Amino acid sequence: MSKDKLVIFDTTLRDGEQSPGASMTKSEKLRVAKLLEKLKVDVIEAGFAIASPGDFEGVKLVADNIVDSRVASLARATEKDIRRAGEAIAGANAGRIHTFIATSPIHMKYKLQMEPEKVLERAIDSVKLARSLCDDVEFSLEDGSRSEFDFACRITEAAIKAGASTINVPDTVGYGEPEEYGDLIRRLIEAVPNSDQAIFSVHCHNDLGLAVANSLAAVQGGARQIECTINGLGERAGNASLEEVVMAVRTRADIYDVETSIDATQIVPASRLVSSITGFPVQPNKAIVGVNAFAHESGIHQDGVLKHRETYEIMRAEDVGWNANRLVLGKHSGRAAVKARFEELGIVFADQEELDAAFVRFKELADKKHEIYDADLQILVSQSRTEDSADAFSLVSLEVSTGSGRAPRASIRLMRGEIESQIESEGDGAVDAIFKAIEQVAKSDTNLELYSVNAVTQGTEAQGEVTVRLEKDGRIVNGTGADTDILLASAKAYIDALNLMQSDSSAHPQREGV
Ligand code: KIV
Ligand code: ZN
Repeated sequence: MSKDKLVIFDTTLRDGEQSPGASMTKSEKLRVAKLLEKLKVDVIEAGFAIASPGDFEGVKLVADNIVDSRVASLARATEKDIRRAGEAIAGANAGRIHTFIATSPIHMKYKLQMEPEKVLERAIDSVKLARSLCDDVEFSLEDGSRSEFDFACRITEAAIKAGASTINVPDTVGYGEPEEYGDLIRRLIEAVPNSDQAIFSVHCHNDLGLAVANSLAAVQGGARQIECTINGLGERAGNASLEEVVMAVRTRADIYDVETSIDATQIVPASRLVSSITGFPVQPNKAIVGVNAFAHESGIHQDGVLKHRETYEIMRAEDVGWNANRLVLGKHSGRAAVKARFEELGIVFADQEELDAAFVRFKELADKKHEIYDADLQILVSQSRTEDSADAFSLVSLEVSTGSGRAPRASIRLMRGEIESQIESEGDGAVDAIFKAIEQVAKSDTNLELYSVNAVTQGTEAQGEVTVRLEKDGRIVNGTGADTDILLASAKAYIDALNLMQSDSSAHPQREGV
């Protein structure tokens, strides 16, 4: 007998982006969306269109360019929000308006300052308006897990009657407990007379570390859509992690009577891309996508795996895309081999010029590093391409001198458009000296919110990937730079962030007062 479909609704670009600092530019959003489409997620929530012009454009760009996944925009239950969401997704092959209003006593009384009857009325009007703009409408009972059951039933029934085809019952504050939450979904489906006309969805936050457990319990209660994010990114402690949900359902197919359409081999590439763009590293012991997730250290385990893999492995690393550390290419590899490997990794170039530029970068890297791994190739192309605009900064050369007993000193040649500057600066450390030197020219008036370095592969020859997060007037950008020399990578990342700040619009929704 065939299993029920479990709809995977990815909200990395909306709830994930609401993590402080995880802001993405619209072109970064599109890159993530393309990979989500390749991952075969059913619905991509691309953003909160009303939050800022940047958010609107981000949702629109994703909606206009994604073909295989449905593209959703979030909207509060207000006319302005819903119309803006409708406008943003108008060009989508398949769109969705996701409207929400809080339904718990504490939210209605203190946040909305509205009587329950008014909330009910607003929900109905909002769903009707959304339906007049889009044939696919999702309605969320914000703080649903703390709502009174009878009220949750009434508003759910009314929303379905008004035209919502998906009803989402979020555990907004991560308070739910699996048995109780699964039971809530089951009782709701049983009690609402028209529940057969909608898909029930869950959206769990991870404040108690229970987001995935709660989501899976809800599936047992009848939920057929899970809202989740890559790497569990999201507000506060994050959302249910897509990779954990998908692999739990697949690995324990004996328990869960549902199946997803996800192409799991794209999970690790998606995790890497999101981590690289947001600057949020993945902890080594993170399930599925952590570097240690499939590493067996204990001799007993290694022995067992060698004799019979299933003794200690419940999933196969390659099934979730862990081929990324395979040794592939070196200095003598030709253009055809490099191009073929890019293709195998699903990396597509817009034109010959872009491929040529990537090949040049590959050769430069191969001169510094003997063994080029898949992860190196991915980083090579995932560097933001921000040097195209006329007044963009680009690095010509960098020299740094440092040693015990003297202040580190950086000497930089920098181009801005056609103008070249040579600057020097001292700093508290080598990186500080580099950033101060760049700032002598840039005078960007930005705040440095994050500086982090991650090794792309293993060993001292590995490329370091640096993330620099800058903030200015509420706008946040994450610049990245990779190089076998961490100081060069730092300079590249700072310059990338400056270029992002002056080009692509991106804003953290919460900072825009939404
Ligand atoms: O956590 C939440 O309740 C949400 C809703 C807007 C779906 O993100
Ligand atoms: Zn949420």
